[in-house]
Amino acid sequence: MNAVSDAPVRIGLAGFGTVGSGLVTILERNADWIRRRLGRDLVLKKVLVRDVSKPRAVALPEGVALTADPDALVTDPEIDIVVELMGGIDAAFALIHKALHAGKHVVTANKALLAERGPELFALAAQKGLGLYYEASCAGAIPIVETLKESLAGNRIKSIIGILNGTANYILSSMSDKGLPFADALRKAQELGYAEADPTLDIEGLDAAHKLILLIRLAYGQNLPLSRLFVEGITRVTPEDIRFAGEFGYTIKLIGQVHEAGGKLVAGVCPMLVHQDFLLASVKGAYNAVRVEGDAAGSILLHGRGAGDLPTGSAVLADIMALSRAGMTPNNTGFVTEPLPDADVLDLDDAVCPHYIHFTVKDQAGVMAAISKSMGVHGVSIRQAVQKGEPEDGYVPIVFLTHEAPERAIRGVLDDAADMAFIKPGTVHFRVL
Ligand code: NAP
Ligand code: HSE
Repeated sequence: MNAVSDAPVRIGLAGFGTVGSGLVTILERNADWIRRRLGRDLVLKKVLVRDVSKPRAVALPEGVALTADPDALVTDPEIDIVVELMGGIDAAFALIHKALHAGKHVVTANKALLAERGPELFALAAQKGLGLYYEASCAGAIPIVETLKESLAGNRIKSIIGILNGTANYILSSMSDKGLPFADALRKAQELGYAEADPTLDIEGLDAAHKLILLIRLAYGQNLPLSRLFVEGITRVTPEDIRFAGEFGYTIKLIGQVHEAGGKLVAGVCPMLVHQDFLLASVKGAYNAVRVEGDAAGSILLHGRGAGDLPTGSAVLADIMALSRAGMTPNNTGFVTEPLPDADVLDLDDAVCPHYIHFTVKDQAGVMAAISKSMGVHGVSIRQAVQKGEPEDGYVPIVFLTHEAPERAIRGVLDDAADMAFIKPGTVHFRVL
């Protein structure tokens, strides 16, 4: 970084898609305001893309070079900060690794990379005394990274519950409120720039899982590999279950959550029934929300746009500005020990919550009794049970809401159901928040 504290900070931007364009727009639009806050200019120097001949949605300032050569950014001695907004793992890892080796601070929005290879990069950044900042990687415009790293640094974090994926929330809201089919809602989310380049990351819960891994690292100072996190996406959520959940007073949301129980972390990402009285139930569209409970602060709810060009660009710019302040000392993970220890996670079988189970059964005597008996055997207590609608081909839906029960007990019930000839295969099971 240029040692003269009012000298311009020069940026090498890697990626000029949705988020890159958002960043370039705000840098231009708010240049005077940024100068007033920092006492120096932020100057875009080079922009790395895959295809330099592609038409761009946003014009670059005069004199800014487009390049397809990653080394043009990392070997340029005039570039102070490399901003990685390409996505993907291998090319992004190589670029950031080289940039840190070359003594440049790095800002990234790449949660997949930081979830999977973050520990290596944070170790290198610590060794070099450089910043590796990533506010935009979790929940778009919402300042949750800064909140956990700095604002709540003195708290023991009891729990985090979040709607962490804008695309999934947009799809579920569109299905619930507008009756849009899943595929149409996904297409619209892609058009609006919310989805990942590979949208299976969004709909299979992996993008939310990547973000949860980063939040766990920030809140608990522990590394949790993706392979040890329970992850389920939204592809099994149907309009019928959205309607049934609604009749019980719930809405279905993709939830990422973690809490501490007996010294271990209980964590996972899955679609859950959220009671309509909870604030999280009213988070709609591409909005995200994160509820953090600290032992001193109590509970805090952050709500805002979870995806899109300007909201995400806003978070990227905050990191660039933080790293541009004269005399700043990087704080990347929020902990001084490096590497961070591995997370101690509770066995999923022991995790406890209420459950929603939707069986499709033959409309005949004894069915309800057999299911209730299985629940009794496994110690699952029923809170509500409803038979819904008219028989179709002789089958009807029966929907149960249970009291809190361990995952192991619910699996026992589902295994029993799979052996009952009067229950159609494909019993639906969701957890209740
Ligand atoms: P995007 O629209 O697909 O843009 C990616 C950009 O990176 C494009 O300009 C592309 O070049 C360039 N690029 C990709 N691979 C490259 C490579 N190997 N070498 C050089 N350039 C390469 O992606 P995005 O939606 O902006 O997302 C960028 C990052 O931000 C991702 O990590 C994503 O997870 C994260 N993020 C996105 C959002 C969002 O709302 N979209 C929100 C938060 C975080 P071309 O233009 O030439 O193809
Ligand atoms: N694809 C992500 C989402 C972008 O839909 O939330 C924001 O991280």
